[in-house]
Amino acid sequence: MKNIAFVITCILLISCSNKYETAINSIEDYPIIPKPKKLTIAQGRFLLSSNTKIIGESSLAKEAQYLSKMLNTTLSLDLVIASSDHPTKANIILSIDPAIEHPEGYTLSIKHDNILISGKTSTGVFYGIQSLLQLLPVGINTKEELTIPAVKIVDSPRYAYRGMHLDVGRHFFPMSSIKKYLDMIAMHKMNTFHWHLTEDQGWRIEIKKYPKLTEVGGFRKGTAIGLAGTRNAPYTYDNIPYGGFYTQEEIKEVVTYAKQRHITVIPEIELPGHSLAALAAYPQFGNTEGPYEVAKRWGIFNEIYAPTEETFAFLEDILTEVMELFPSKYIHIGGDEVLKKEWEESAYAQELIKREKLKDEHGLQSYFIRRIEKFLNANGRNIIGWDEILEGGLAPNATVMSWRGVKGGIAAAKQHHSVIMTPGTHCYFDYYQVEEEKQKNEPITGSKRHTTVEKVYSYEPTPSILSIKESKYILGAQGNVWTEYMPTWDLVEYNVLPRMTALSEVVWSSKETRDWKDFYKRLQCITKRYDKLGYNYAKHSVETNQTP
Ligand code: ACM
Repeated sequence: MKNIAFVITCILLISCSNKYETAINSIEDYPIIPKPKKLTIAQGRFLLSSNTKIIGESSLAKEAQYLSKMLNTTLSLDLVIASSDHPTKANIILSIDPAIEHPEGYTLSIKHDNILISGKTSTGVFYGIQSLLQLLPVGINTKEELTIPAVKIVDSPRYAYRGMHLDVGRHFFPMSSIKKYLDMIAMHKMNTFHWHLTEDQGWRIEIKKYPKLTEVGGFRKGTAIGLAGTRNAPYTYDNIPYGGFYTQEEIKEVVTYAKQRHITVIPEIELPGHSLAALAAYPQFGNTEGPYEVAKRWGIFNEIYAPTEETFAFLEDILTEVMELFPSKYIHIGGDEVLKKEWEESAYAQELIKREKLKDEHGLQSYFIRRIEKFLNANGRNIIGWDEILEGGLAPNATVMSWRGVKGGIAAAKQHHSVIMTPGTHCYFDYYQVEEEKQKNEPITGSKRHTTVEKVYSYEPTPSILSIKESKYILGAQGNVWTEYMPTWDLVEYNVLPRMTALSEVVWSSKETRDWKDFYKRLQCITKRYDKLGYNYAKHSVETNQTP
């Protein structure tokens, strides 16, 4: 009897292993976004079960934990993490491979009996994990077999800077939302979170030396209703006090959470404009007697910092605390939409223009930015500024974020300055996602401009007008999310997805492999993951609107 049981078990084992060894896969089995550089379909499938172990070098402990947590979240699988120098079969092995060239590159090899993810660095391994996660089934009955198609992937990103921005000044979002955003960024193999922390409508970062920045500047007395001030809509306010800010402890938590996901957080401290909330807290750094009040409506304001020594000392104190919190190489200093009226009318500003032999108020803006750059450079940091920092002359080491189209980016690259492309036409995810005729069914937004997911996908960050040498200055691109018309987190997700998914392929995948129809098919699959992870998204952009 025992012998018969043994024989049956052997037959079962052989037939099962044959099934896993011989399964035939097709390209539809690999709906990875962003599309990998090189993907070779292989025969067979790996059976993932609760017996599978995650085995990693000790330097990859965080990545192993991340993979385990994600398998738990998406498939309710609780895998053991084992550290072993002699990995056995039927496991997921994470390893560092110095032979891989690109610092963010990885290889993912899936065979019927094991999975190997290798990276030049832990970042590469993390991206290999993201690709693996996208090969797992979603939404299946947990009693079904979980199998992953065999494959060999060799992958690395096209651009070094792959960013997503978020404005928390116009509307404030809790820590849980910021972490969810970081999860979304990580899933898309993007590596930078540009955190827009200060605005006319709210100062959102605790600064110990100047507590009124958050006590006063973190709150407004009300918020403009609907389309106030646009399309002839009158200004009306809800008169509901609104605000919030992140404590330094919370900021550290975000930076750590981001680091675990291989994301750098770049803080933005706006100057010399978009500073009304700061001036409401500390009016002595303004050009006039005021009065100043945290803005309740959207738009651009005349109130900007006075270019005095006292203001520079104030801003340097703030930036000193900011640098302690954020280890990023870059600090974003804003520089956009600076109305010059107050400087034109200020005796002090005019005197300074003469004394420093500046051409005009644009020259003064350039002087302002250069002073701040000098301070940050002396502390080992570099500045990023919106493309207005070109006006009046670029600060020597500044990186330009090109938002008013691509002209600023081209001009900066020609001057051999680094550039991040975020043109409104393709990278502003606060624009409508549909054409004007269909906008009446959509949540309101400030202008009638629209950017469909297909348009985002069509974006080419490196302008063809640049020479090969100049092209090297294009570090990458970023999606911007201005939140005037996004009072809820649900709306942020709705605006971001799936446009961010399209941008992730633009910044990661090679230009030659990009193909809208092929992407559109893979997009259908990734939305199942959005559902599983609880991400809201514009379903019409996936289901009907963009059908190829
Ligand atoms: C911007 O959209 N004002 C940079």
